[in-house]
Amino acid sequence: MRRVVCPGSFDPITNGHLDIIGRSARLYDEVTVAVLINVEKSSLFTVDERIDVLQTVTKEYPNVKVRKFHGLLVDFCRKNDIPAIVKGIRVVSDFDYELQMAQLNYRLSGVETLFMPTNPEYSFLSSSRVKEIARYGGDVSGLVPDLVHKLLIDRLRG
Ligand code: PNS
Repeated sequence: MRRVVCPGSFDPITNGHLDIIGRSARLYDEVTVAVLINVEKSSLFTVDERIDVLQTVTKEYPNVKVRKFHGLLVDFCRKNDIPAIVKGIRVVSDFDYELQMAQLNYRLSGVETLFMPTNPEYSFLSSSRVKEIARYGGDVSGLVPDLVHKLLIDRLRG
C-alpha cells in the first residue's frame, strides 16, 4: 500500500489544495488529508468544520481520508505508517520555505517530502487571500469549491 499525507490548515480548502489532493489520489493508493490543530492561530472555521468540508469535497476520491493532528507532522506520519508528505509548490518562495521543512522532517524521522507543482491556474491562490477577498465582498467563485463559497458568504457576511 503506497501512502502519502497532504497536510495543511485548510482554513478553508481552496481549488489549489483540491487539485493537489486529487492528483495525489491518482498516484497513490491512499491519501490522508491531515488538518493541523493549531491553538495558537485563530481560524475562520473550526477543525471539525474543516474536516466536514474536506470529506464532502473529496468524496469523489475513494482512496482519500481526512484526519486531524496536533504536534509534529512526522509523528503523525510514523503513527499512521505514512512514509511521505506531498506539498504543492506555487512559486519559488514556497520552495525556499518548504525545502528547509522537508530537510528537517527527513532529518527528524526519515519521512520523505514530495513536491508537486501547483496547477498554474491556482498559483496565486491561498486560503488567507480567499478569506480577505470574501470578507470585502469580492467574488471567490472558481477559486474554492462551491460548498466553501457558500460557507464563506454565510460566515463572513451572515
Ligand atoms: O496550510 P499550512 O498552514 O501552510 O500548513 C502547514 C503545515 C500544517 C503543513 C505545517 O505547519 C506543519 O507541518 N505543522 C506541524 C508541525 C510540524 O511538524 N512542524 C515542522 C517542524 S520541522
